[in-house]
Amino acid sequence: MNVDRITVRGGKPLQGRIQMKGAKNLVTKAMVAALLGETPSELRSVPEISDVRVVQGLLELHGVTVERDGDTLRLDPAKVRTAHETSINAHAGSSRIPILFCGPLLHQLGEAFIPDLGGCHIGDRPIDYHLDVLRNFGAVVEKLPSGIRMSAPNGLHGAKIHLPYPSVGATEQVLLGAVRAKGRTELTGAAVEPEIMDLIAILQKMGAEIQVDTDRTIRIEGVDKLVGYRHTALFDRNEAASWACAALATGGDVFLEGARQPEMTTFLNVFRKAGGAFEIEDDGIRFWHPGGDLKPVVVETDVHPGFMTDWQQPLVVALAKANGISIVHETVYEQRFGFTEALVEMGARIQIHTDCLGSHACRFGQRNYEHSAVIAGPVELHGADVVVPDLRGGFSHLVAALTAEGTSRISNVGIIARGYERFIEKLETLGADFDVEG
Ligand code: EPU
Repeated sequence: MNVDRITVRGGKPLQGRIQMKGAKNLVTKAMVAALLGETPSELRSVPEISDVRVVQGLLELHGVTVERDGDTLRLDPAKVRTAHETSINAHAGSSRIPILFCGPLLHQLGEAFIPDLGGCHIGDRPIDYHLDVLRNFGAVVEKLPSGIRMSAPNGLHGAKIHLPYPSVGATEQVLLGAVRAKGRTELTGAAVEPEIMDLIAILQKMGAEIQVDTDRTIRIEGVDKLVGYRHTALFDRNEAASWACAALATGGDVFLEGARQPEMTTFLNVFRKAGGAFEIEDDGIRFWHPGGDLKPVVVETDVHPGFMTDWQQPLVVALAKANGISIVHETVYEQRFGFTEALVEMGARIQIHTDCLGSHACRFGQRNYEHSAVIAGPVELHGADVVVPDLRGGFSHLVAALTAEGTSRISNVGIIARGYERFIEKLETLGADFDVEG
């Protein structure tokens, strides 16, 4: 459903059961991995989100046949070919995934072109690590006004690589490049998010040789040939945390089918500290507000196994209603509190600071980045007109509108559809009171 704006009448607790599907931040990369196989791949539990459609479009441009059957994608790379730069550029600004096409395309075709990247505006989001990784593998990188062209005249070879920060995307860049490079790759300072572990599981199914050590070191032995995989994607723990916070903030009770405890342990700790309750079942997790006051928390976002940066935005809405002062220190992205402006308009008391508040100094301290939030509750939020700025910030606006007194109009909600499957249907299932405008 293409929706641009929704009008929400707040005050109704969200109640009911909804299903979580494969993680946006795994599924899109798993689709790219299919490019590396000599035979077709089958990916299950694929959500219907626009990021998946963007990656599908790019794969098809490169000759990959992509067929959807319910939640399953079949990807056949038998006819991989070079795509025209102008057609690739039609996807400029729509996603960050194209940068991950480089390794697989260089292996398959000896060349790659990627358009200007998109993604949420939550910081500078440079790609220096990615380009360094590719150069280390032997790629020749040429920056053009329209995008980046790469070639690998002598193929890619393994390398020793150290990441200055455990970047998720750069770790994936290494994995997707190294599995078929000549020789051995040793990556230190790697990210070890569950989505990365699931990508490693997929690559192993394809025939890759990958060893993960305890100290963020990943060793990859390049192989000549990989085959297709069959895989059910890890559930979307970011989506699950978002709906859990929506239940908490609205005083609701939701069962998230497909959510699992191990990938959410850190979130569950904070959820409970903030006054929420949960119950783990074999087929999902129930999250609810058990009554009484919500409690303030001090939380710092971090790489896995820390509290994910994508969890803080909807949590901030619940914390606005908590009885006391909460602190959220964002250490992954330098500008991820833009969304709080709209919450303040709705009555939240939130101040953003450039200091590292609440915990140890991070790499953004002393650099004038507004990356710590102090949230003083409890407040009753009231409806407002807001424009969605980014994916997670947008979802938090939705949560705020659901808890607010009165009516809110939220525009630009198409951004939410980039990462939240059928969120309009899910809102209906959970009993929210709203109208949509196309
Ligand atoms: N960074 C660099 N140079 C690089 C790459 C990253 O300085 O070349 C910095 C970033 O600017 C950031 C930090 O490293 O400050 C971490 O970025 P990372 O590379 O880990 O992020 P990403 O791979 O671009 C993915 C998710 C994000 C999620 C982060 C952190 C996808 C498509 N995106 O981004 O998800 O927040 O990891 O877990 O997987 C979202 O889903 O809304 C979202 C933003």
